[in-house]
Amino acid sequence: MNILLLGSGGREHALAWKIKQSKKSGNLYIAPGNAGTALCGTNIAIDTVDFKKIKSFVLENKIEMVVVGPETPLVEGIHDYFLEDAELHHIPVIGPQKAGAMLEGSKDFSKKFMQRHGIPTAAYKTFTKNELRDGVIFINSLEPPYVLKADGLAAGKGVIITENQGEAVQVLNYMLADAMFGEASSKVVIEEYLSGIELSVFVATDGDSYKLLPVAKDYKRIGEGDSGPNTGGMGSVSHVPFADKTFMQKVEQKVVIPTINGLKKDNIPYKGFIFIGLMNVKGEPYVIEYNARLGDPETESVIPRIKSDIIDLFEGIANGNLKEKKIEFDERTAVCIMLVAKGYPDSYEKGKLIKNLDKVTDSMVFHAGTKTDANGNTISNGGRVIAITSFGKNIEEAKAISLKNAEIIDFEGKYYRKDIGKDLL
Ligand code: AMP
Ligand code: GLY
Repeated sequence: MNILLLGSGGREHALAWKIKQSKKSGNLYIAPGNAGTALCGTNIAIDTVDFKKIKSFVLENKIEMVVVGPETPLVEGIHDYFLEDAELHHIPVIGPQKAGAMLEGSKDFSKKFMQRHGIPTAAYKTFTKNELRDGVIFINSLEPPYVLKADGLAAGKGVIITENQGEAVQVLNYMLADAMFGEASSKVVIEEYLSGIELSVFVATDGDSYKLLPVAKDYKRIGEGDSGPNTGGMGSVSHVPFADKTFMQKVEQKVVIPTINGLKKDNIPYKGFIFIGLMNVKGEPYVIEYNARLGDPETESVIPRIKSDIIDLFEGIANGNLKEKKIEFDERTAVCIMLVAKGYPDSYEKGKLIKNLDKVTDSMVFHAGTKTDANGNTISNGGRVIAITSFGKNIEEAKAISLKNAEIIDFEGKYYRKDIGKDLL
């Protein structure tokens, strides 16, 4: 099967790597891809939201399936675009239509969805620009910490948590009155703070049945001990010890099944992955957010743990027979450590030569922000540069191997966290 994969991060390299291992794999193209995806298939210089160019490419290259990595093309309706086009509508797209992607595209929509279907989540209220005064009164009625969320997509920066009431009011003003995140903050969700430990749960669904993928935990803060600003993710661990049978039964009964049933009740078609960001609050799961895609860097530790054929899984999603598909997992633990550029997550340098990639042993290396320069060298091209994933019988063993290779791979200004998974021991 000829596949076009959209995206250019570590998640996409992990997906490309897995697709390439499938017996059903034909020509694989990645748009726009990175230096790592180029090792698994052919990169093509098309933007993930340039639907017209994607259409031409798909038709010219006899693409038989499109797999969407990131959220933006989904929220902008790539799946709907395919369904509405006479020449494309028979080509399956892995990823929900716009209506389903709204679970990620609008916090207000997803909170209403959870409320409507009785899915546990933090109490909240939504405010628009005209309701700024009510928003301030609401903040004044709450206990700290305050959680403010821009309604729309804000490149992972739209959530502000502060202990300080004055700062919360100021942020509300910036978001609503000063359009801090543009249209994305034309509505703001203010919600109750949940105290607990986070977990990422990935669900594959054909809109009717579902399969759970291995769970993971990601590490969002730049500094050790979860300190400093938020990033796209500094590493991940799969499996997560506290996600035991009892907890996962609660997750399935209270969150996953009501989510799948809720989509059906609301007539929202959904063929793709649902990423449920959960907080474990004293043994009870609460949904923090939904995403309409797989997580990054969780994918880099989850995908290697899937032993079954990934194209077979995609076909189940596309054809509506996911129920019949078998999905097998590797019982070992995977730990992923992300090497990032100096300065990240603020402004950072690109174009640094990445050395010693060929000296890595015992780990899988997934490229995130990399590209190949005119001389054929691999250079950095983003804040998150390289993900290193290793297996072990437990977190400590897997982490030690990833750390060993994090030392070996080198570029100027390289930084990484050495404490990935430490909180779970
Ligand atoms: P989100 O983009 O909604 O996932 O939020 C980003 C991060 O903010 C989450 O991964 C959590 O660490 C944190 N967060 C979001 N909502 C809450 C909440 N209600 N209580 C505590 N932490 C939260
Ligand atoms: N790792 C979190 C995300 O992909 O949004």
